[in-house]
Amino acid sequence: MYARKKWVRLALCAALLGTGLRGRGGDPSPAAGEAPARPPTIAWEALRRLQGIDLDANPAVKAALLKVLAQAQGTPQFVEIVDAFHLPGQHPALLDFALSHPNTGAGVRAMRLLLRDGDLTGVRAALTGPRARAAVEALGHTADQRVVPMLAPLVSDSGRDLATRQAVVRALVQVQEGAAALLALARQGHLSPDLRLTASTELNMVRWPALKAEAAQVLPLPQARNAQPLPPLALLAQMPGDATRGAAVFHRATVGCSNCHQVRGQGIDFGPNLSEIGTKLGKEALLEAILDPSAGIAFGYEAWQIELREGDEVYGLIASETPDELAMKTVGGIVTRYQKRDIVKRERQKLSIMPTGLQQAMTTQDLVDLVTYLASLKKAPSSASGGAPAAPGNPPAP
Ligand code: HEC
Repeated sequence: MYARKKWVRLALCAALLGTGLRGRGGDPSPAAGEAPARPPTIAWEALRRLQGIDLDANPAVKAALLKVLAQAQGTPQFVEIVDAFHLPGQHPALLDFALSHPNTGAGVRAMRLLLRDGDLTGVRAALTGPRARAAVEALGHTADQRVVPMLAPLVSDSGRDLATRQAVVRALVQVQEGAAALLALARQGHLSPDLRLTASTELNMVRWPALKAEAAQVLPLPQARNAQPLPPLALLAQMPGDATRGAAVFHRATVGCSNCHQVRGQGIDFGPNLSEIGTKLGKEALLEAILDPSAGIAFGYEAWQIELREGDEVYGLIASETPDELAMKTVGGIVTRYQKRDIVKRERQKLSIMPTGLQQAMTTQDLVDLVTYLASLKKAPSSASGGAPAAPGNPPAP
């Protein structure tokens, strides 16, 4: 007992003094007196040792901890400490953090803590306030089923601006129940016309086959409504395309490539970076990657599903792993760390996270232009001229 107390004090001193809680990410030069081998994590590990201590029985420790917490306000470490120590009274600050950083791992984690503690009063208030959209986004990224009853009514709330209602649609489809609720609204004709395209785009990309199939019926993508069958791959690959138009297709919201891929710093960092994809894949292989993503899954980008002790499921890529923790990257590029002891099941998925049927959001010419663009993304800057010369004898499909 005594030994532990002494350790506790030492740990807090370390935490309060030098290396601060900058932790993992940055690697500032080691503070004096610290072992140089693992400088940036020492303070954090020291704090971690304190987990489970009865803070109320150790007022000095508690005071010191609160001091550290105050220093960390507004940073991801703040969320981490509140989480690790189950510190009470932090809900307003957590909510503020989540609303200021709705699209980051730490912001989403803050929102998750509020859900975990069942304190939804502030969250509900936020949904009617000026930062409603941020609240919707953070709630959506938690992929927690409890958000569905909170968000579903907002879909048809005409008092909301379009951007917020679109965010609601995108948030709902991250959970199976939410996607089902949205589909039900569409089936019953309760979806306002200005949301149809967003809902159709999102629902036609969900990973639950039955819902996806129903979406194709109830809310078909515009191009799919009068779709012609695509020409064979080899023929498609030879059709002349326009790389500049292809870049626009890539970034078009209803096509969604840049929601998951970056090209030269633009787009969301989730799937493989495509800045030099033309060096790796030829046109036919590119077409295959788009039309049948699961045929060859890029190394390191396999999909995993984990199940947490409380029953929640997380679907995404494994971003990193330590003996105690697993970091999952979900669609949207948000990385969340989970304690391995909270994970009851982990399963590799056979299918790619990249959705099938993306070509249904495009015309055949869009697809050809897109592939021309991707094929032009090469290492050598000299070959950036883009548009492929017209292939003789292969007129575009009517
Ligand atoms: C929901 C996220 C998501 C969307 C949307 C998406 N992709 Fe992907 N994409 C991925 C992931 C994850 C991979 C890696 C797994 C795989 O190879 O299937 C991938 C792989 C690829 C690859 C192969 C990369 C390689 O290095 O082998 C290409 C090419 C590609 N995507 C192009 C596109 C294009 C073009 C679009 C838009 C029409 C698109 N993707 C939309 C997530 C996405």
